[in-house]
Formats: sequence, structure tokens, C-alpha cells
Amino acid sequence: MPQNRIVVGLDVGSTKVAAMVGEITELGEVKITGIGECPSNGLRKGIIVDIDGVARSILQAVQSAERMSGQKIVSAYVGVTGAHIYSVNNKGVVAVGNKDGEISVADVERAVSAAKVINLPLDKEVLHVIPRQYVVDGYDGILDPVGMVGSRLEVEVSIIIGASASIQNLGKAVSRAGLHIEGFVLNPLASSEAVLQPVERDLASVVVDIGGGTTEISLFDEDGLWFASILPVGAYHVTSDLAVGLRIPLSQAERIKIEHGCVLSNLMPDEEYIVISNVGGQRKVSKKVLASIIEPRMQEILHMIKQEIKSSGFKGVIPAGVIFTGGGCCLDGLAELAAEHLDMPVRIGYPCNVGGMIDMVNNPRYATGIGLIIYGSRRMASQEAAADSDNNFKSYINSIKSWFKDLF
Ligand SMILES: Nc1ncnc2c1ncn2[C@@H]1O[C@H](COP(=O)(O)OP(=O)(O)OP(=O)(O)O)[C@@H](O)[C@H]1O
Ligand SMILES: [Mg+2]
Repeated sequence: MPQNRIVVGLDVGSTKVAAMVGEITELGEVKITGIGECPSNGLRKGIIVDIDGVARSILQAVQSAERMSGQKIVSAYVGVTGAHIYSVNNKGVVAVGNKDGEISVADVERAVSAAKVINLPLDKEVLHVIPRQYVVDGYDGILDPVGMVGSRLEVEVSIIIGASASIQNLGKAVSRAGLHIEGFVLNPLASSEAVLQPVERDLASVVVDIGGGTTEISLFDEDGLWFASILPVGAYHVTSDLAVGLRIPLSQAERIKIEHGCVLSNLMPDEEYIVISNVGGQRKVSKKVLASIIEPRMQEILHMIKQEIKSSGFKGVIPAGVIFTGGGCCLDGLAELAAEHLDMPVRIGYPCNVGGMIDMVNNPRYATGIGLIIYGSRRMASQEAAADSDNNFKSYINSIKSWFKDLF
């Protein structure tokens, strides 16, 4: 029976680096056993601008995750973000190789390779090729065509592309922190693993992760990922608006935003005040004024999200609506404002689909880190299944060999 295994998710965000440790039980469930966090140094809008600074933050986050989990961390699944990332949908078509028409793993691999052939600028690389569905002799909606009979195999894929330099710089920072990279994973793909309920996966849905420096958007239909995009704006812009508007330092603006921030200025009473202290003394600012600074920025971000969804070319309805996650969605009133602006059902997505120290990570800020663990556990399971079927095949061949030996 397989032993419990460890998977680590490393979310290198614009405001924090989070290292999450997950244990995969014998039954395949994911249990969170540790988390380490450190303010991030050297990232702007999800892009690395100081490799050593980022490496130091990663090391600190990893060390505190090691202390909490009691596990030595040697490798991790690493989240990738930044406005350089985009998605393209493509198709690959092949003739089935077997004379008897039975589709093999090799046919599927050839179809996916054919779908991968796109014009790629020299400075870009493919981060993921995600099969959405297979079509056999014109019959669509097939999830696993291996073993089916047909003559023509088509695959529809989503290809995620990113700037090579940005991905390599992230890789360097992780390696300098002494970690092996199990795989790079698109952040929005990870967040969606953590926050989407199974029923939302069966319908079309949009996941929006509002971080400090980025807003990550992913649109899923019933066949899987349809579109992904990352905007270089996030909740840090709200902090900086407050700092400018109230003439206070960024650190104070951040604190005020988290304690008193609300996006619905209409709902705030005029007579509720907060006291702002600085070198010039103390002054009162109404919560309505705070909200009137925050609201236009969030309206702007929501407008950009709406434009991205439009530009995705997705023509169907989105019955499951928009699931917001990431630290930026914790502003009071965001769900209400978003539902009105986007004209869709909206909910706030907390990490779910895991067990263990769930209270510690029950915050939208941790959706990416948790999702990286879930992604890693799925990958581990499919690698083990592939190895198992390979071993079964080898033992089948060995048993036939020994049967022949016995015979002669
Ligand atoms: N309770 C809260 N209320 C309002 N805003 C919050 C709250 N908690 C966190 N935030 C904001 O969320 C942002 C950080 O979110 P998160 O940790 O998801 O970002 P990140 O992953 O580091 O950045 P990115 O994803 O852009 O690279 C900060 O701007 C912070 O002010
Ligand atoms: Mg993030």
C-alpha cells in the first residue's frame, strides 16, 4: 500500500511568498500540514526584478513551513504569474495508427503534439498544453479515447504561453533558495483547483484571483480551461490610492484598508469616522470618504475583468458565475459590487477540497498555494497510475515469458 507522500506548493506572489506543505494520504486525500509565509522582496506585478531578494523570501517562507510541518522541503510546485502570460486554443488531428482502429496512448500523444504546433515568438515558451476534449470520428465530448475504436482522432487543447525570461528568472530564484522544481503551474489554474466546487466545474465559471500586483482570470467551460489572462493591477493599487488620497505612508494605508476598507461608498454612513495619526497630529476621516477612494479603483479593475471575459471569445452563458479569490477580494462589499458590475452570480472563494490544518489556511490569500498542492497531488496520482499500468504490463509479459519457459 502506498505511504503518505508530501507535496509542496510555492506561491511567489507580489506581496507575500507562501510555502504550503501537503500530505497525500493513502486514500489520495490532501491534508495541509504546514505553511510558511514571508513578505516578498523583489517582485513587481508578479514579475521578478531582484532574483536574490526573491530567493531570500522563498528561503524564509520554506524554513518556517519546515518548522511547522516537521518536514524537510527539497522540492516544490511553483506558481507562475505575470501579464506576459496568455492562452491560445488549438486543435490537433491524426489518423489512428492501429490497423484494428483501437486508439493507443501513442495516438493520443501524437494528436496532442500536433495541437501544440503554433507560431511561437522566440522569447516565449509553452507552459501548459491542457487537453479539453477528444473527438473520435466526429463524436465529441470524449475525455479519454484510449482503447476506443475509430479512424480519426482530434484533440482540442488550451495552450498557456509565457515569457521565457520571466519563467527562467523565477526558476533561478527558486534554485538559489535550494529547491528542486517539480513543475511550473499557471497560478489561475492552481487557484481554481482550490476554490472551485465540483458542481461549478461541470458548468461554465470564471475564477478571478485579485492579488497585490496582479488580477488573474481563468474561464472554464464544461470541457475545462477555455481562457486565461493576467492583468498587471491588483489590491496594492487601492493601498497606493489611499496613501495619496489621505497623504499617509503606504504601510498605514495598507493597515487602514484591511481594517476599514469597503468598496460601497453609498452604503457607508457619513457619521462613522476613523482617526488617522501622523506627525502632524490626529485627524478624523469618514469611512464614506475611505470608500469613495477605494470604489473607483475597484470599479476600474472590475471593468478590466469584464473586458477580458468579453475578449476571450467565449460565447456561452456562465451559469456558475464568478468566483473571486486572492487577498484583494477580502474588501468589504466586493461581491455585491462585482455582481452588479459583471451582471453575474458572484461568490468569494475560500480554499476547499483539502483537509488538515484548514483553519490556518482558510483565507482567499492562500488559494494559489493550496491549489498548487492539489495540482501536484493529481499529477503524482496520474504518474503513479501510468507507472502501475506499465508495471502491470511488464509483469504480464514476464508471466507469459515464464509460461513459455515452463512449457519448453
Ligand atoms: N482582509 C483584507 N481586506 C482587504 N484587503 C486585503 C485583506 N487581506 C489581504 N488584502 C490585500 O490583498 C493583497 C494581497 O493578496 P495576495 O496575498 O493574494 O497577493 P499576492 O499573491 O502576494 O500577489 P499577486 O497574486 O498579485 O502576485 C494585498 O494588497 C492586501 O492588502
Ligand atoms: Mg497571488
